[in-house]
Amino acid sequence: MSERTCLSVILAAGEGTRMKSATPKVLHKIAGLEMLGHVTRALDEAGSGDKALIVGHGAEAVSKAAESFAPGAETFVQAQRLGTGHAVLAARPAIARGYDDVLVTFGDTPLISREALRALRARLADGSDIVVMGFRTDRPAGYGRLIEDGEALVAIREEKDCSDEERKITFCNGGAMGISGGRALELLDSIGNDNAKGEYYLTDIVQIATGRGLTVRAIEADYESALGINNRAELASAEAIWQERRRHAMMLDGVTMIAPHTVYFSHDTSVGRDTVIEPDVFFGPGVTIGENVTLKANCHIEEARVDAGASIGPFARLRPGAEIMDGAKVGNFVEIKKTLVEPGAKIPHLSYVGDARIGAKANLGAGTITCNYDGFSKHFTDIEPEAFVGTNSSLVAPVTIGAGAYVASGSVITESVPADALAFGRARQSNREGLGKRLRERLAVLKARRG
Ligand code: UD1
Ligand code: CA
Repeated sequence: MSERTCLSVILAAGEGTRMKSATPKVLHKIAGLEMLGHVTRALDEAGSGDKALIVGHGAEAVSKAAESFAPGAETFVQAQRLGTGHAVLAARPAIARGYDDVLVTFGDTPLISREALRALRARLADGSDIVVMGFRTDRPAGYGRLIEDGEALVAIREEKDCSDEERKITFCNGGAMGISGGRALELLDSIGNDNAKGEYYLTDIVQIATGRGLTVRAIEADYESALGINNRAELASAEAIWQERRRHAMMLDGVTMIAPHTVYFSHDTSVGRDTVIEPDVFFGPGVTIGENVTLKANCHIEEARVDAGASIGPFARLRPGAEIMDGAKVGNFVEIKKTLVEPGAKIPHLSYVGDARIGAKANLGAGTITCNYDGFSKHFTDIEPEAFVGTNSSLVAPVTIGAGAYVASGSVITESVPADALAFGRARQSNREGLGKRLRERLAVLKARRG
């Protein structure tokens, strides 16, 4: 199939008013990736060639966002929203270049499967002129009905234009369509707007093609492939389906989850074999977890890397740029940002570590804080291998703790500590004999006088 050329036209001009949002509908996210990004990814996975993106409402924002997930896409503006047929024709200059296949998809059906897209192209390659992605549903209201005659698809009737009999049909138009590239423009140009909505319906090309003796077929896809998102409740349903599928795939790939329904992945989360994920762990985008890692309960992790054998949490937060190397330990109530934690280093409890390097086998005591920010700039803390920082110490960056050095508990470290030194950054303690007893007696007398 790969020798056939393909243009994918993605309709994303819709306003999506029911999202009640300043963000264009197709830029709402599922698993941290814009819906439109899910569609372009499925197209990429199906090897669907060049992309023409039809934008309208929020055109600038949509085009800009598309640069990250669909870098080569050409954008075309549909200035007036006159229907799906009219929208596809906004890409006329691209279609006119001449492709073997033209695939039309919607930007708001994020769970469309690559298998369905491949099937559309396979049927075009087999000689069909138009192939429509259908799906079956008990609740067909709002969808175009697929009207078949034997093998042939003869028409798609929009709900508002259906007869009572046609309205009972449960095989519906899922939105995606493959059109033979050589015929696409003449068919699209034949679409009129004489229907209940006064729109140029893309779906009308089925009847037009049938009238010309062309071959039109429907394929059946899963319900999710046709799931169009119109409001935030539907967005959450699609998210739930996506998460469920990803958890299942992760487990089949060798990841253990004790309570999978409480673990949330991003579109690009990667987790190695034999890693154990305890309940309530959230992955933002950009996370790579190695093999044999333990992620204890209640962790939040984004743009971070955790290497083999490391242990994270419970209740840890790994922020962008956290890189936790082999066998290192990040314990409870620890926040790490833009920091390399080298093999075997330990940050077991109650710490903030930002803009730092924690050398191999170094140990940070409970409550260690890197003071990395002065209100204007961020500064670096370098903790060399096998250094030991006593509990409740503040490391005022920029500062270096040399290899093997000790920092006494409760220190405020403002100057670098040489290797193997012992640093005291706190007032010396003095004990006064008997003064405690006298203080207690005086306080008792004062309280008695007050009654
Ligand atoms: C459309 C189909 C219907 C199908 C359903 C599946 C038509 C006429 N109807 O109906 O058969 O069952 O999808 O979900 O195609 N768009 C534009 N510009 C326009 C009009 C639409 O870009 O002028 C985009 C929308 O943003 C949306 C998509 O095309 O992403 C579908 O349009 P929508 O109005 O939602 O069509 P439906 O009425 O749902
Ligand atoms: Ca729709």
